[in-house]
Amino acid sequence: MSFPKNFLWGGATAANQYEGGYLEGGKGLSTSDVLTAGSHTQMRQITWKNEATGETGKTPMAFMGGDIKIPEGAIPAVIDGEYYPSHIATDFYHHYKEDIALFAEQGYKCFRLSINWGRLYPNGDESEPNENGVKFYHDVFDECAKYGIEPLVTISHYETPINLTINYGGWIDRKLIGFYENFCRTLFTEYKGKVKYWMTFNEINVIEMGPFMGGGLLKGDKQNVAQAAFHQLVASSRVVQMAKEIDPSMMIGMMVGYGVGYAGTCNPKDQLALLEGNHMSHFFTDVQVRGYYPNYKLKEYEREGVTLDIKDGDLEDLRKGTVSFIAFSYYSTNVVTLDESFDHGDGNFSFGAKNPYLKTNAWGWSIDPAGLRIALNTLYDRYQIPLWVVENGIGYADVVEADGSIHDDYRIDYMKKHIEAMDDAINLDGVDLMGYTPWGCIDLVSAGTGEMKKRYGMIYVDRDDVGNGSLKRSKKDSFYWYKKVIASNGEDL
Ligand code: BG6
Repeated sequence: MSFPKNFLWGGATAANQYEGGYLEGGKGLSTSDVLTAGSHTQMRQITWKNEATGETGKTPMAFMGGDIKIPEGAIPAVIDGEYYPSHIATDFYHHYKEDIALFAEQGYKCFRLSINWGRLYPNGDESEPNENGVKFYHDVFDECAKYGIEPLVTISHYETPINLTINYGGWIDRKLIGFYENFCRTLFTEYKGKVKYWMTFNEINVIEMGPFMGGGLLKGDKQNVAQAAFHQLVASSRVVQMAKEIDPSMMIGMMVGYGVGYAGTCNPKDQLALLEGNHMSHFFTDVQVRGYYPNYKLKEYEREGVTLDIKDGDLEDLRKGTVSFIAFSYYSTNVVTLDESFDHGDGNFSFGAKNPYLKTNAWGWSIDPAGLRIALNTLYDRYQIPLWVVENGIGYADVVEADGSIHDDYRIDYMKKHIEAMDDAINLDGVDLMGYTPWGCIDLVSAGTGEMKKRYGMIYVDRDDVGNGSLKRSKKDSFYWYKKVIASNGEDL
C-alpha cells in the first residue's frame, strides 16, 4: 500500500441532506425543501399548493424524463401535515463545531460540503447576498482551518432556490447563468484564501436522469433537459474563468456520477448498447475537460430533433473554462444487455440488469471494488488530468446495540476493498488520484429515497425516517478503523 504523501483523505456531505436550518438565518426555500420522504419502492414526491384556492397535493419526482405533474395555478410549496427530511436533516447548521471536531479526531485532511445557494441568495435572483448566510460558511471554514482541514466545496448540490423553479422554470432559463455567476462571485471573493478546491455542480449528469433534482426543472423532456444542461455547462465554464481571475491558486473541478457498465454477454448488440451507455457516462466529462461537445452527442441531438440555443461567446467559454480535475462518485456498476434472462438491477446509475457475480445491499446497489479501478483507469486514460473520488460508500440500516455501540464491519469491508482498488489504480496503473472522501461520512438523509435508515456514515446520528431522535452523534466501529487508515496514509487497512 502506498498513497501519495499529500493524499487528501476525508469525508463528503451535501447541504440539502445534512445541513438543516432550512429557514434559519434568512435562508430561502430550495427544491430539496419541497421533497417528501420515500423508500426503496416509493418515489419521493414534490408537494404543491394553489395559493388562490388553497388546494394542496403532491406528485412524484419524475425520473428518466417526463414532466412533473403539478396542476395549473399551483406551485411547488411546503404544505401542512407533510414531513420533509431536508428541513432539519442531521442538523449540521447547529452541530458544525462538534462535527468538524469529530472529523479532525479521525485525522481528516479535507472535508467535502456544499453551499446551500438559498442560504446566500434566498430567491436566487437577488443582486446582493444574505450576510447571515455568508457568515455561516465563514464560520464553517474557520472551524475547518482550526484543524488544518481543507474544505472541498460543491457549489450546487441538488438544490436550486425554489423561486428560480417557480418563476424561471429552473435551468431552462438562460438567466440562471447570470444568477449562478453572481452567486459564485460572492463565493470566490468571500472565501478566497479559505477554500482552494471547488466543484461547480454535483453529478452534473443527474440533470438527464432527475431533472428536478439536477436542474430545478419541472419539464423533463429531452429538448428542455438538453438546453438546461447546456446552460449549466456554460455557467460552469464561465465561473472556472472567473475563479482564475479572482484567485489563480483555486482549483475548480467538475463532478460526475460515474456509471461503469459491463456488457451482459459477448453478443455484439450488448457491446453496442454498452458503447451507447458509455457515451452517456462521458458526455459531461468530455465537455468540461475537452471544452467542446462530442460528435456522438451532436449526432444524437440531430437524430432526435433537439436544437440548442447557443449565443455568441458560449462555445468560446466552453473552450476556455475547462476544469482542473475530475471528481466523481462511485458506488456500484451496472450491466447492459438485451438478454431478457437477466434479472433487473438497481442502483443510483444502474437501470440495467443485475450482475450475478456481485452481492448487493438492501437497496439493490451492487458491491464492486474492481469497478472503481476500472472507473479510475477509464477516466484517466481518456482525460489525463487528476481525479478525485469524492463519493463512495455503502448504504446500510445500521443497528445500535444496547450499549450504544454500532458494529458496521460490512462498511469497513466495503471501504477496505475500495481503498485497495484505488491503491491498485495508483500503483499498478499510474493513475493520478488526489483524494478520497467517502459519502455521508456522518449519517445524513438519502437523496434518492429521503430515508434516514439508508445510512452511510462512520458517525451515527440519532434520527429516524419520520423525524424522531435526539440528533446525538456517536462513533461506529468504522470511525476508529478509518482513523487508523488515515493515520497510516492507507497502509493499515
Ligand atoms: C450521489 C449523490 O448520487 O449518491 C448524493 O451525489 C447521494 O447526494 C448519494 O446521497 C447516495 O445516494 P442515496 O440515494 O443513497 O442517498
